[in-house]
Amino acid sequence: MAAPDDLSVLVGSGVLFVTGKGGVGKTTLSAAIGRLAAGQGKRTLVLEVDNQHPTLPAIFGTPTAYEPVEVERNLSIANIAWAPALEDWVESIVSMRRLVRLIMKNRVVSLFLQVTPGARDLVMLWRTHQLASRYDLVVVDLPASGNAVAMLSVPLTAERLFPSGPIRRCADELLSLYARRDTAAVLVALPEEMVVNETLETSAKLLRDVRGLRVPLILLNRASVPSFTDAERSLLAALEALPIGDPVAADVLAAGRWEESLEAATAEAQTRLKEAGRPVVVLPAVSRRDGARRTTQMLVAALARLAGLRAPPRGAH
Ligand SMILES: Nc1ncnc2c1ncn2[C@@H]1O[C@H](COP(=O)(O)OP(=O)(O)O)[C@@H](O)[C@H]1O
Ligand SMILES: [Mg+2]
Repeated sequence: MAAPDDLSVLVGSGVLFVTGKGGVGKTTLSAAIGRLAAGQGKRTLVLEVDNQHPTLPAIFGTPTAYEPVEVERNLSIANIAWAPALEDWVESIVSMRRLVRLIMKNRVVSLFLQVTPGARDLVMLWRTHQLASRYDLVVVDLPASGNAVAMLSVPLTAERLFPSGPIRRCADELLSLYARRDTAAVLVALPEEMVVNETLETSAKLLRDVRGLRVPLILLNRASVPSFTDAERSLLAALEALPIGDPVAADVLAAGRWEESLEAATAEAQTRLKEAGRPVVVLPAVSRRDGARRTTQMLVAALARLAGLRAPPRGAH
């Protein structure tokens, strides 16, 4: 079980990268962490990265754009798109708007940037870093694990390939961002065997390929925590012993066994994830019917309780 101190990295970071397998709840948890931090008075930005189907708009009821928009007190959201990020990066190097347009119009240059491995990822990370100077906390909702590891490892590759020049300088800046004590990455998992396997692989790859970046926590989302009392357990055992003709009793038994199997899956996932040597934060499954906004708010409440913080009221402004 993670202690409140283990969770301090969530709201206490300057830049927090969030990754995990597709559909595990990365965006929802990024939004929940963002709202929790904003409620503690931190100026917070939650970012999706070049997401063609952004989820943040459904959670906050506001469309996202390249430039951050404030959706709640202390809380902004954005979606980093590649083209404007590239333009901003080129401008940071040549610092003359007219020249930037000429460079961007040059087909050879833009082709070079589009096909150079990692150029796209590097520019997107650069934009994240640039935005970090305007906020206390930037929560970066990264792409799914494989792509996220590839993206995060680009500055290390660039450091090897470019002895000098603008790409090398950009890579150096990002590597010093990784090395900061207030930069961290967290992994999101689910209590499912395949997801746990992928989480453990990603954890190992991050340690190996993204030198210097801390991964202090794993978030086990959509978990079923033990809920049966001893009396309920005895009842289930008694029902099982009965020769069941009664359909209601059969349904109760099936529901009880299903719940037990979910709880067992959570316990097993927790044990296996601990192999990665980091605290595992267990977050409850919320009813599917609740929708993106309410799910997020319930996770804010769960995170606040585990971190020993007060949850901000929903949609505080
Ligand atoms: N703890 C939870 N309980 C129930 N549903 C959840 C929970 N966390 C996320 N979800 C739901 O799971 C779906 C996928 O979440 P999302 O954050 O979009 O995942 P990802 O960004 O990893 O693809 C969404 O419908 C979201 O509302
Ligand atoms: Mg997402």
